[in-house]
Amino acid sequence: MRLAGKRALITGGLGGIGRKVAERLAAEGATLALADAAAGESPVADARCYVADLARVSECRRLADEVRADLGDIDLLVNCVGVFERSEFDETTEENWDRNVDINLKGVFFLIQAVAPQMRRQGGGRIVNITSIAASQGFATAQAYCAAKGGLLNLTRALALALAPDGINVNAVAPGFIRTQMTEHQWTDDAFIGSLGRMLATRKGYMEPDAIAAAVLFLCSDDAAHVHGVNLGVDDGWLAGISGAAFT
Ligand SMILES: NC(=O)c1ccc[n+]([C@@H]2O[C@H](COP(=O)([O-])OP(=O)(O)OC[C@H]3O[C@@H](n4cnc5c(N)ncnc54)[C@H](O)[C@@H]3O)[C@@H](O)[C@H]2O)c1
Repeated sequence: MRLAGKRALITGGLGGIGRKVAERLAAEGATLALADAAAGESPVADARCYVADLARVSECRRLADEVRADLGDIDLLVNCVGVFERSEFDETTEENWDRNVDINLKGVFFLIQAVAPQMRRQGGGRIVNITSIAASQGFATAQAYCAAKGGLLNLTRALALALAPDGINVNAVAPGFIRTQMTEHQWTDDAFIGSLGRMLATRKGYMEPDAIAAAVLFLCSDDAAHVHGVNLGVDDGWLAGISGAAFT
């Protein structure tokens, strides 16, 4: 058991990736707090579930306080919260921009700000953010999402430097295309999956969320004790480049 005795807070814990992260961390002995925007069935029997709108700073602070009061100090914080909302240039509204940025970026920062002091007091901790291939590549129809995820990537690096002296490792996992509710409009589209398969060197269309959970577990484990500020791509080679098959 690689995480025996550890207390983990997973945001977006009832989402596709969050659920698998929860299962994986629990299987390694962690005690879990799962936070999401609405109540739902927990993937892990004895996890505590919390409802919080993590676009709001006051909710981030309330969540950190409640989890600490219920479970004690948090050792591991995994930010799986997120929304993908299309935003084409001429159609992007302030509301659309704010949802993408507040949920994917602002709330993540303020939850870390609320949790890190208790990690500092106990001598360290692990924080893992879920970025995206869209943190490093532009997608023309998702400008606000790209801005938020690119911001989250560089925020991860800045926080890694700020918190490393306190024994806190801050890292990110950058998923490629994962089969979850967020991407249902795409993985149910055969033409989309076909073109993705030609573009990726692995010839695969999509990955399952377990692939991300495995990378999160590594970054939470003692094996990653000296890893700070990385953005670990789990993307079937997407960011390595476009496969030759895409041009044939
Ligand atoms: N699925 C993919 O292909 C993919 C690719 C790259 C990055 N990601 C990132 O991975 C993370 C998890 O995505 P997923 O695929 O599991 O999506 P998902 O929609 O299944 O899960 C996201 C979860 O976040 C929760 N959430 C949304 N807004 C919230 C709010 N304001 N407060 C609290 N919770 C809120 C949702 O309720 C949901 O449970 C996200 O950050 C996403 O951007 C996903």
